[in-house]
Amino acid sequence: MSTVGKTITCKAAVAWEAGKDLSIETIEVAPPKAHEVRIKVNYTGVCHTDAYTLSGVDPEGAFPAVLGHEGAGIVESIGEGVTSVKPGDHVIALYTPECKECKFCKSGKTNLCGKIRATQGKGVMPDCTSRFKCKGKDLLHFMGCSTFSQYTVVADISVVAVDPKAPMDRTCLLGCGITTGYGAATITANIQPGENIAVFGAGCVGLSVIQGAAVKKAGKIIVVDTNNKKKEWGLKFGGTDFVNPLELPQGTTIVDKLIEMTDGGCDYTFDCTGNVQVMRNALEACHKGWGTSIIIGVAAAGKEISTRPFQLVTGRVWKGCAFGGVKGRTQLPGLVEDYMKGDLKVDEFITHRHPLEDINHAFHDMHAGDCIRAVVDLQK
Ligand SMILES: NC(=O)c1ccc[n+]([C@@H]2O[C@H](COP(=O)([O-])OP(=O)(O)OC[C@H]3O[C@@H](n4cnc5c(N)ncnc54)[C@H](O)[C@@H]3O)[C@@H](O)[C@H]2O)c1
Ligand SMILES: [Zn+2]
Ligand SMILES: [Zn+2]
Repeated sequence: MSTVGKTITCKAAVAWEAGKDLSIETIEVAPPKAHEVRIKVNYTGVCHTDAYTLSGVDPEGAFPAVLGHEGAGIVESIGEGVTSVKPGDHVIALYTPECKECKFCKSGKTNLCGKIRATQGKGVMPDCTSRFKCKGKDLLHFMGCSTFSQYTVVADISVVAVDPKAPMDRTCLLGCGITTGYGAATITANIQPGENIAVFGAGCVGLSVIQGAAVKKAGKIIVVDTNNKKKEWGLKFGGTDFVNPLELPQGTTIVDKLIEMTDGGCDYTFDCTGNVQVMRNALEACHKGWGTSIIIGVAAAGKEISTRPFQLVTGRVWKGCAFGGVKGRTQLPGLVEDYMKGDLKVDEFITHRHPLEDINHAFHDMHAGDCIRAVVDLQK
């Protein structure tokens, strides 16, 4: 029986309030309106941003909501005017949409898109309403994706069709973590052969930076992490050296150490920790005259970065990126192809798998420290 045009009843993990575990509920998902797409979500990753919002420290976090933004699935139906995807397409949801017509999209300078920013931030669809209901209450959308549900509705600019042969239980991770790090190295930094880089934090994002740097044939790829277990992980993805900043000789800072290892400083450094002191060290470990530090980590609410202005006067550059600077609709299908050709590691990031009913385990895994990425199967 076709579900087109009808409300679908399905299971979802609902975040009723901050600081509480998600609750598996039966929810109603309304059909897509004009320029919207309803997706049967098969798999979703769990990212730190989901945990951050759920914890309640995200000042923009609003509840009750359906979280999740690292998802892959199949288009179930489309609203009026949708031409970019069709029912049956295998897709990845995009928390950084791409309308191809706003000032941002046309600038050629950024992957940020302004088209639905305001409503996405408020947790509603572009017409200011929600497509989710549970126990008579509207549930908010999250990051324009809401992949912790068996079905979701997204704007047509927030979804991209990819190779249907690509396994969705892996490609879901291209919806955030892997693409973010890989894009930061290959697009935002556009590392050139022989350049020396340092990556602070070897989680999913940092390991993806390392992978991108290796593809770009960087010189030294120095992995900096306070957890010694990350040495093996970092080297597996292409790192050339590992430094634990907590184990340096007395009087040597991580900045001194990196400057010494690279004969004056790194060409690029990346913060993949979200710690503002690490961000400062990452900037100051850059080479005088041209070294560039890229902030990827999301800092806790209210935190600020600082350094002496002289660091910038003498040529170091501080920048950052979201979703690695990748334009989702234009560039993500290419990353899926790279994965299919064996040029992009994805499977290697998956350390845990859970059925939807155990999604809270995925959050606990993340806090335990031995997890790179957990993938949740929404069909189970
Ligand atoms: N900008 C974006 O678009 C974007 C997208 C996804 C994630 N993020 C952010 O990127 C960051 C990393 O995400 P992740 O999933 O890889 O996280 P993760 O927790 O898996 O990895 C973080 C790593 O940093 C290490 N670390 C912690 N403190 C450190 C310190 N002082 N020095 C060196 N290493 C340290 C940890 O041991 C860990 O290995 C998070 O802040 C996340 O919110 C940003
Ligand atoms: Zn994320
Ligand atoms: Zn746009």
